[in-house]
Amino acid sequence: MKGIILAGGSGTRLYPITKGISKQLMPIYDKPMIYYPLSTLISAGIREILIITTPEDAAAFRRLLGDGSQFGIMLDYAVQPSPDGLAQAFIIGEEFIGRDSVALALGDNIFDGSQLTRILGETRDVDGGAIFAYEVSDPQRYGVVTFDADGTATSIEEKPAHPKSTFAVVGLYFYDGAVVDVAKRIAPSERGELEITAVNDAYLAAGKLKVHRLYRGDVWLDTGTIDSMSEASAYVEVMQKRTGTIIGSPEVAAYNQGFLSREDLLAQGRALLKSGYGRYLIDAAGE
Ligand code: DAU
Repeated sequence: MKGIILAGGSGTRLYPITKGISKQLMPIYDKPMIYYPLSTLISAGIREILIITTPEDAAAFRRLLGDGSQFGIMLDYAVQPSPDGLAQAFIIGEEFIGRDSVALALGDNIFDGSQLTRILGETRDVDGGAIFAYEVSDPQRYGVVTFDADGTATSIEEKPAHPKSTFAVVGLYFYDGAVVDVAKRIAPSERGELEITAVNDAYLAAGKLKVHRLYRGDVWLDTGTIDSMSEASAYVEVMQKRTGTIIGSPEVAAYNQGFLSREDLLAQGRALLKSGYGRYLIDAAGE
C-alpha cells in the first residue's frame, strides 16, 4: 500500500499567517504540522509516501523532509498547481499509485489514541474504500456519513446544512487500486472542487464503502482554523508532558513499525537534543 499526504491548499482561513508560510509547515506545539499525518501513515505500515504541495512551498517541504531515509521510508513529491479539490490527489498521483491500494491523509488532520494503530493495520487490506467516522457536535462542518450495523456506509454528504447523523468523516481515507479511475470520473462540485466525498459516494453506490468508527479514546483534531490549531498545540503539549511520550513523531512511528533500528533512533535523537525533541526519541529507544 502507498500513501499520499495532501499538503497544498490556500490556507485563507489562517491569513495573514499563511501568506508567507504553508499551513502544514506551521508548528503544532513542538513539530511541524505535517509530522502528524506522516506519523499516521507510517503507523499504518506505509513506507512509500507522496507529498503533494503548492508549487510555491515545494522547496520548503523538501528541505524539511528530504528523501525520507531519516525515517526509514521513501518520500516522493508532486505539486498541485491550484487547490481544485482533495480528490485531485489521485489524478496527480496516478503514476506513483500505479495499481496499488493507497491511503490519503490530509496534511492538517491529527490523530492520537491507543486503538488507532490497530485499526489502521486492519484497514490496510482494503477491498473498495474505507473511511473513519468520529462523533462531533458540529457535523455540518465536515463530510457526514451514515452506516449500518456491519459498518457499510449508507449515505455520505459534504458539509450538509441538515446532517443525517453526527458522524464526521475524518481526513484519512483508504482505497483499492481503482481509485484513480474513480477520481477521473467524478465531476467538480458547485464550489468547483473534485470532492473526496464524490469519490466516497461512488464507492458507496457500488456497496464498497466501509466505515470504521473511532471512539472517544481515539483523538481526532482538524487544524483548519487558528483556534483549532492552538487547541491541538495545547493537547500535544499537555499529553507529552504528562506521559513523557511523544505524539506525531515519524521517527518513533518508524521505530515501532521496524523501519528504523534502535541505533538509528538513538542517532536521530542525539542529533536533535538541543530542541528537546531528541530527548523523546532517546526515551522511546529505551535509554
Ligand atoms: O478534516 C476532514 C474534512 O476534510 C472532511 O470531513 C471533509 O469531507 C473534507 O472535504 C475535508 O473538508 P475541509 O473543508 O476541512 O477541507 P479543506 O478544503 O480545508 O482541505 C483539507 C486540507 O487539504 C487542507 O490542509 C488543505 C488541503 N488541500 C485542500 C484542497 C481543497 C489541498 O492540498 N488541495 C486542495 O485542492
